[in-house]
Amino acid sequence: MSILITGGAGYIGAHTCVELLNAGYEIVVIDNFYNSQKESLTRVSEITGKSFPFYMCDIRDRAGLEKIFKNEKPEAVIHFAGLKAVGESCRLPLEYYDNNVSGTLTLCEVMQQFGCKNLVFSSSATVYGENNISPLKETMPAGGTTNPYGTTKYMIEIILQDLCKADKDFSVCLLRYFNPIGAHESGRIGENPNGIPNNLMPYITQVAIGRREKLSVFGNDYDTHDGTGVRDYIHVVDLAKGHVKALDYCIKNTGAEIFNLGTGTGYSVLDVVNAFKKASGADVPYEIAPRRPGDIATCYSDPTKAALILGWYAEKSLEDMCRDSWRWQSKNPNGYGE
Ligand code: NAD
Ligand code: UFG
Repeated sequence: MSILITGGAGYIGAHTCVELLNAGYEIVVIDNFYNSQKESLTRVSEITGKSFPFYMCDIRDRAGLEKIFKNEKPEAVIHFAGLKAVGESCRLPLEYYDNNVSGTLTLCEVMQQFGCKNLVFSSSATVYGENNISPLKETMPAGGTTNPYGTTKYMIEIILQDLCKADKDFSVCLLRYFNPIGAHESGRIGENPNGIPNNLMPYITQVAIGRREKLSVFGNDYDTHDGTGVRDYIHVVDLAKGHVKALDYCIKNTGAEIFNLGTGTGYSVLDVVNAFKKASGADVPYEIAPRRPGDIATCYSDPTKAALILGWYAEKSLEDMCRDSWRWQSKNPNGYGE
């Protein structure tokens, strides 16, 4: 019996593979390598000293999935595979709905066909939309998403909840991630964005290494302690450990449960810049730029439910996140390319 990891070569997937292997699980990875490289999986093996099968397969390829399920007989699936760039999703909505929503439907149909009914899904804090006030709790109304990417996550949550209502053997954990940053402490795996990074931490590390001139801070007139946007940054290794706990829970239960995976603490853009400078010793020149459309002032979690039910809580500090992001960036200035 093994655990199938879709999108396992990606940023969060690779870190979760490490934690699953360390916890003694057998894993099988599938990825189409659209936004990742095989090298990340080689490094997962190197870090853990364990090998595992992987398949180059798209989750929309039903016949491909059927072969893998037949060979590997997975007991559960952790489903990371998906497209995740907010801006791109506004330009390419059909690609996002096809990849994320149709891909998840095909995956679930094949799971049902093979009697594999435990699923851990990568959702996002983005499903809380614009109208809920932080700290965000799982009981707050979801929806009101502002871009196709967010809407795919919301739609998939609804689909998986309906599946659990119809098929009482299904067990689904919907994990709403806040803002994952950081990297494995070995410095061997980390976030490797294509092109100009959209997210704050990879942009900061690329400025610090000299690949970009300066950071644009999007707005300093928000109603926050220093005027810049506040988010709940979580170390990717803490997030990965949350998946191991969610998987254990998922296998023992049925029905759909939602869990926030965040720290419960919000930091501003300038808090992150200052913590990064301190942890790395590198300079991060920045300028104040206009607000980015679609951004909200403040977004952080109430992480109580995951602590009570899963026995999981984030342990690493902002300093750890900055130090590990910097180690990854400085040891791999061109990501997995060199
Ligand atoms: P990532 O892009 O690094 O990893 C996703 C992986 O899925 C990549 O390896 C990609 O090649 C693969 N993939 C994409 N479409 C596929 C398909 N059709 N078939 C097979 N493989 C496919 O992204 P990540 O940051 O590791 O995110 C993992 C999941 O978590 C995604 O679903 C993302 O939407 C979600 N999420 C991420 C964040 C974040 O800030 N990183 C926040 C909330 C939710
Ligand atoms: N920011 C800057 N400059 C940059 C990049 C970001 O000032 O160059 C600011 C943003 O305005 C925001 C904060 O840094 O205040 C964080 O921005 P990110 O783009 O890193 O993260 P978001 O909170 O906007 O979104 C992320 C993911 C989404 C996900 C959401 C909630 O990109 O996919 O977290 O999980 F939905």
